[in-house]
Amino acid sequence: MGKFYITTPIYYVNDRPHIGTAYTTVAADILARWHRLAGDEVFFLTGTDEHGAKIYKAAIEKGKTPKEFVDGVVPEFISAWKTMDISYDKFIRTTDTYHEDSVKKFVMKLWEKGDIYKGTYTGLYCVPDETFVSESDAKDGKCPSCGRQLETVSEEAYFFKLSKYKDRVIELIKNGLVLPDSKKNELLNRLSGDLKDLDITRKSVKWGIEFPPDPSHTIYVWFDALLNYVTALGWPDGEDFKKFWPADVHIVGKDIVWFHSVIWPAMLMAADIPPPKTVISHGWWTIEGRKMSKSLGNVIDPVKLSEKYSADAVRYFMAREKQIWDDGDFSEKSLESRINGELMADLSNLVARVLTIAEKSNVPESSEVELEGFIDFEEFSSFMGGADIFNALETILAGIRRVNKYFNDKKPWASSEEEKSKTLYNALEALRMISIVITPFMPSVGGKIANQLGLKQGKASDLKFSQFKGQPKRGPNLFEKL
Ligand code: MSP
Repeated sequence: MGKFYITTPIYYVNDRPHIGTAYTTVAADILARWHRLAGDEVFFLTGTDEHGAKIYKAAIEKGKTPKEFVDGVVPEFISAWKTMDISYDKFIRTTDTYHEDSVKKFVMKLWEKGDIYKGTYTGLYCVPDETFVSESDAKDGKCPSCGRQLETVSEEAYFFKLSKYKDRVIELIKNGLVLPDSKKNELLNRLSGDLKDLDITRKSVKWGIEFPPDPSHTIYVWFDALLNYVTALGWPDGEDFKKFWPADVHIVGKDIVWFHSVIWPAMLMAADIPPPKTVISHGWWTIEGRKMSKSLGNVIDPVKLSEKYSADAVRYFMAREKQIWDDGDFSEKSLESRINGELMADLSNLVARVLTIAEKSNVPESSEVELEGFIDFEEFSSFMGGADIFNALETILAGIRRVNKYFNDKKPWASSEEEKSKTLYNALEALRMISIVITPFMPSVGGKIANQLGLKQGKASDLKFSQFKGQPKRGPNLFEKL
């Protein structure tokens, strides 16, 4: 037991929540909920990234001031996460005054230390991605990550001495900052080349936090955004900062791992703040085999999806359909077949069948244990510790299949009273434990199972066979066939 600080990236508000941002957020929520069940004191942070040229452009296109524009989009994120049962502890906005003040303080600290200097930057810039692209990465003048046209930008800028921290960053990555290993190797490979200092101000961008040493500049949106992870805790003096920093897990998509495992740790080193413990890189979703994009018109709205199928089903599908590290494909057909198969036929039916018999029978408080190890909880917990939500969920499903088989083989509807009691005791205890481990994935389903068993929601320390003290009463089916 201890503290657990987990963060999602803060999302750009030029876009509404979609299946990609929802995935990062759901994955973080699953881990946060598990750590709470395990008795850790958890701080789960999410929020929005609201400055920079891209947001400015989007506001102008809508005929709004940037502030009006961002204020209009933020509630969509808040309500999307509510629909999806996201249990964050704090929602940070980079336009919050405390954040802006704290960012300025941070900049001054590096300025006084001599880690920031003035220079000129000329380069190819991708406005939608808010990032300069090196000549070698550019493809025919187009952005390698989004494919859009790059612009040549040359301007006076202030630079952060990123190169000064190169060796320490390499050391940190070698020591296991980043998961999975393939990502770690990719970063080390890139770091074996030249690491240039980072331009951290923009003269041309007005929508940003003022750069205190020279107010004609604003602070580069990524520099501002990364700092949310400490400003949200009240850096430098906040109690939460003292209690929760360093972050245990920053969970991010594979496209922004460089920012989180190279630039961010270097910024922290410059300010004498310890680096985060782990950066988890997750893969991307395609939609029925194609890249998700507004122009293709195939963007999936996670809120509509949750309203149609339930947040539980959507969360389950996200964790179940692909390994967290890998890319995967989203299709509604596959979601429906998992609901009809695994959720309805395997889980919901099991709960219904056990409870139908249990509510009409005498259930003993204790009996011979026949399902010991039906889920390997140590293995489950170690998967969750490594953010491997896919394999953790797989161990639960294997457990559900085992209980199903056990119940079928034992035929309590046709066995002696003594045998039936034993079977019911085992099945009910198993369901009680399933209700605990399934909760991080499907919070409402976990609660419903516990409820039907006549029990309060359990914790990780209750994951063992003991006295069954519930009053089973069958309720509505957890899932219906679609
Ligand atoms: N604002 C920056 C993050 C700053 S953090 C200090 C940003 N925002 S974002 O809104 O563009 O994206 C945030 C997250 O969504 C990233 O983790 C990204 O990988 C994820 N995804 C966006 N599209 C995705 C898919 N199609 N599939 C899975 N995740 C994807 O980047």
